[in-house]
Amino acid sequence: MTVMPSRTPPGPMENLNHIGTGNLRSATPPKVADFAGGLGIVAAALFIGFLLRDRLGVSDIALMLLIAVQVVAIVYGLWPALAVSVASTLGYNYLFIPPFYTLSVADPANVVTLFLFALAALIMSSLTSLVRWHALIARSARVEVEAEKLRSALLTSVSHDLRTPLASILGSATTLKTCRDSLDESAQRQLIETIREEAERLNRFISDLLDMTKLEAGAVAPRTELVDVSDVVGSALHRAGEVLKHHTLQTTLSADLPMVKLDPVLFEQVLFNLFDNAAKYAPAGTVITLSAERTGRSITLKVLDEGDGIPPADLDRIFQKFYRVRASARQRAGTGLGLAISRGFVEAMGGRISAQNRRDRRGTVFVIELPVPDESPEREDAA
Ligand SMILES: Nc1ncnc2c1ncn2[C@@H]1O[C@H](COP(=O)(O)OP(=O)(O)OP(=O)(O)O)[C@@H](O)[C@H]1O
Ligand SMILES: [Mg+2]
Repeated sequence: MTVMPSRTPPGPMENLNHIGTGNLRSATPPKVADFAGGLGIVAAALFIGFLLRDRLGVSDIALMLLIAVQVVAIVYGLWPALAVSVASTLGYNYLFIPPFYTLSVADPANVVTLFLFALAALIMSSLTSLVRWHALIARSARVEVEAEKLRSALLTSVSHDLRTPLASILGSATTLKTCRDSLDESAQRQLIETIREEAERLNRFISDLLDMTKLEAGAVAPRTELVDVSDVVGSALHRAGEVLKHHTLQTTLSADLPMVKLDPVLFEQVLFNLFDNAAKYAPAGTVITLSAERTGRSITLKVLDEGDGIPPADLDRIFQKFYRVRASARQRAGTGLGLAISRGFVEAMGGRISAQNRRDRRGTVFVIELPVPDESPEREDAA
């Protein structure tokens, strides 16, 4: 029996696209504004109580103040609530317990009322803050569970992306070894081609992972030099030759391009990633265009394709690592690292990269802007 390994199917990275990690807002220490807000609420309650003093009983006003304290506890947390418990007790005494407008209390029975009021305010604010705190803890636990899920999903898909090509390589190699005699030449060649392609894929995936890790660790230090853009474009095109063989390539480099400061190795990688995407996501036989022109103090490079374009909501998200547009992720293998790396590299060289949909027809444009250094000479061959 011959095992004909199939091409690696798209990885499950698309499943990760829409897992958010949420925002963990921890119980931060109270700010002056929180105290001010709490005092504002209690002052408002005291004022309303004062206006209605003749119509409401003292106990009604006490209840209203307690509700205000509880609102403060819910909105601002423990410390502002404790502060307004004290403030409202004082205000209650000052405005509503005879003799008015002084903090002294004439009737001993009112001392008990005041004491009970203060106690109620303190207990309510503590309990409410406790409930609030527990809700916060529950929320951060939820966020943690979600982050953990994301981590394990990432791990699953990374190991999928490593193991699937390896399985194909092993399968093909084993078939070649054990069934060589029963295979005709074209079957053998196909197996060898599969081994080469999948090893290539594995190689690329691993170097993408390394690049991404380096970028995240801040360990990418571009070795910039003054270069002629057309040289870097030329070498990127050379490298992408195989990838671009089913498309027609057009380049329009304007004649007045100045020299730019960039790291040729990183920049070649960026251009390669864009060519690779254009070839992958635009149908075979269509035109891929690369243009470069000077725009004031910068030069603008564009890679245009004739594919389906990108949903507007995804135009920036595609630069996040592992993000893939659902529709294309279903059709084409990939990990969603290419553009994240490209943006990291371009920004490390002081430039910017963005994606747009074409206005003149269907398709995507990737735009790279690079600053032109002040001392940049004109290119030697410029007319
Ligand atoms: N030219 C394009 N046309 C349409 N969609 C694109 C194009 N370039 C990128 N995309 C979308 O952006 C996503 C992210 O691209 P990116 O290059 O980062 O990852 P990838 O191509 O999926 O995988 P790889 O890591 O192998 O490059 C792609 O999955 C695709 O959905
Ligand atoms: Mg890509």
